[in-house]
Formats: sequence, structure tokens, C-alpha cells
Amino acid sequence: MQALARRWQKAGSRIAFVPTMGGLHEGHLSLVRRARQAAGRGGRVVVSLFVNPAQFGPGEDFAKYPRDLHRDAALCRSAGVDVLFAPTLGQMYPRDPGAPFSTWISEDTLSQSMEGRSRPGHFRGVTTVVAKLFNIMLPDVAVFGAKDWQQAAVVRRMVRDLNFPLKIIVAPTRRESDGLAMSSRNQYLTGDLRRQAVVLSRAIAHARRVVGASRRAVDERRLRKLLTQLIEQQPDAQMDYVEFFHPDTLVPVARVAGGTHMALAVRIGKTRLIDNGRL
Ligand code: PAJ
Repeated sequence: MQALARRWQKAGSRIAFVPTMGGLHEGHLSLVRRARQAAGRGGRVVVSLFVNPAQFGPGEDFAKYPRDLHRDAALCRSAGVDVLFAPTLGQMYPRDPGAPFSTWISEDTLSQSMEGRSRPGHFRGVTTVVAKLFNIMLPDVAVFGAKDWQQAAVVRRMVRDLNFPLKIIVAPTRRESDGLAMSSRNQYLTGDLRRQAVVLSRAIAHARRVVGASRRAVDERRLRKLLTQLIEQQPDAQMDYVEFFHPDTLVPVARVAGGTHMALAVRIGKTRLIDNGRL
């Protein structure tokens, strides 16, 4: 892959990269289209598909994460992707007895809250695999989704702190017609659970209305209580966290106003979903 990327670079092609874990949906494909646009004429779009064990905690869904390489490859092909890079576990993390995989990259500030607090070790797994993939794919541009707002912020910080020679683009969250943010994990939701899952985007819309209707900034504790009640009205929904913060620094705010960013994680039955939006 590196040799191919170097050849493309020599020929003057811009390389635009979309990292994924597969289970591809319209959200991923919108990133591919954004990457095509960023690559420009004569540019190349590359996608990686790797379910990265390092970012799953014990007891999380690594084993049952949706895997269908043929389907994902067909989607990439029809989206005009130039290369789908789908390494095996052993290629990414060799378990060579003499030289085991032992180098990690961790971001220590932006990754402490929210997903980082609920899923210890998660972001270290993300930054490590994303750094590896950047070194393998040698992209000029990488496209991430706003769906994983904190992840995009952490990756941006890593790129800045470690001088990765590439640009990060963040593309908008794609949603189902009822508002549910598209996610590979939505496949776990059947029947009634799927209907309850719409409560995440409803909570963001509700917060937006409350903040929009208030003449002063809203106390974050009040908003959190309100939204937790709204979420937990659904019989199988349990709030993991809801946070209000500055969109770039992720620093929590005590008073919520227009422009504040909100993110939440909710368990719907056994499925953990996340969403976020600007208020
Ligand atoms: P994955 O969950 O497959 O997501 C791959 C990319 O698609 C991420 O940048 C994510 O934010 C984006 N994405 C997911 N759902 C989206 C939606 N509804 N609208 C727009 N973009 C969406 O995120 C990961 O994989 C992994 O952590 C990875 C970065 C590949 C590292 O393993």
C-alpha cells in the first residue's frame, strides 16, 4: 500500500482517505464522496476497513461487530473507491513472539471526557490505529464524520501535535428519515428498540428548543436532568452520559447557550448509541 501510495504521489495524485470499520452505510459513503471532492481531478480515494480490537473494551461488541467484506467491497466499488485496504488482524498487530506489538499513541486531554471516560482505553486504540493507517495509506487528506465528534477532535489534535503531513476534514452526520444518526451498530436494533432509538436525536432537538426559547443561558444541570428524563421515558433506554461543551476544546460549560455543543451516549437495550449536535 505504501509503495502504491508513493507511486501515486510521484504521479502528482492527491490521496484522500476514509478510515472505517466496515458495516458500511450512507454515512460512510458520504465521506467517500467528500473524499472524492477533496482528491480533485486525477486524485485517488482510498478506504480502509479494519475492525480494530484495540479500541474495543472487554465486554464490548468486537466479536459481533458487523462483518461483510463482500458487501462492503461492492459498495466501495460502486462508489468509485480506488483502493479498499482491508488488512487482517495479524497484519495490523503481529504477535511475533520476539517482537510483539508494543507501541501506542495516546492523546491525553480531549480524550479524557465522554467516550474516553465511559470506554477506558478506547481512544488510545483509535489514535494508535489511525496513526498506523496514516503511515500505511500516506494520504494528503483524511475525512472523518461529525457523528463521532470527540473522535474527530482527538484525531485532529494528534495530527497537529505529531505533525502528520495531512489535512483532516470533518463531514456532517447522515441520518435516517426519522433523525436516527446512521451507524453500523443500528443493525443490532430490531423492532421496538429501533423505534426507541430515535430518542437520541429527539433529545438534541429538544435541547435546541429549550436553549433557543430561553432568554438567558440554561444551567447545564437543569438541561441534563430534563434530557435524562426524556431519554428514560423510553422503556429500554438508559442514559450513559450527556455533556455540554465548547465544540473545539470540548471543555464543559456550566451555562448552555446557542453555539454550545452537546453529545450523548444512550444504551437502547444492549446497544450503545452516540449522537451529538450544535445547540
Ligand atoms: P466507523 O464507526 O466505521 O466510522 C468510520 C467513519 O465514518 C468515522 O469517521 C465516522 O465518524 C464516520 N461516520 C459514521 N457514521 C456516520 C454518519 N451517520 N454520518 C457521517 N459520518 C459517519 O470511526 C471508526 O469507524 C473508527 O474509530 C476508525 C476511525 C475507523 C478507527 O478504527
